Amino acid sequence: MDLFRAIYTSRPFGFDQSILSGILMHARRANERDGITGALICRADIFLQWLEGPEEQVRDALARIERDDRHIEMKIHVAELVPEREFGEWAMLHDPAVTWFWSQRDIDDGALERATPEEITAFFMRLKREKQSA
Ligand SMILES: Cc1cc2nc3c(=O)[nH]c(=O)nc-3n(C[C@H](O)[C@H](O)[C@H](O)COP(=O)(O)O)c2cc1C
Repeated sequence: MDLFRAIYTSRPFGFDQSILSGILMHARRANERDGITGALICRADIFLQWLEGPEEQVRDALARIERDDRHIEMKIHVAELVPEREFGEWAMLHDPAVTWFWSQRDIDDGALERATPEEITAFFMRLKREKQSA
């Protein structure tokens, strides 16, 4: 079974704590069912999500997420087969966008359009290290 990783960014549409809680609750339940793990970094001005699991399930989740009207401007930065999971312990790790992350100003200035897959992947690997040492 091929293991697949996808990372996308998007802009929340109508963001508040209860919307976020609803997204996370549904995501964790669906992901456990589908064998998907990953992480969601979020703030009022950005979502950044890492999904990993069986290729078909990850692609199906991406298609559902793309149709979701709670966010806009979804852009896929990484979509590739990988040898192993990085977030295997988490049905969906959640993090309010951390201080070393892009500022709101950076995002307004086009950081998402300029971001490289390596830069985005590195955000998540740093998040993972911090969660593991916490
Ligand atoms: C930012 C964001 C992240 C999401 N993450 C996931 C996820 O990890 N897994 C998932 O199944 N659905 C996720 N969803 C929810 C899907 O968009 C969708 O609402 C859900 O899969 C139900 O789809 P359906 O009503 O077509 O069955 C996410 C939605 C948003 C807005």
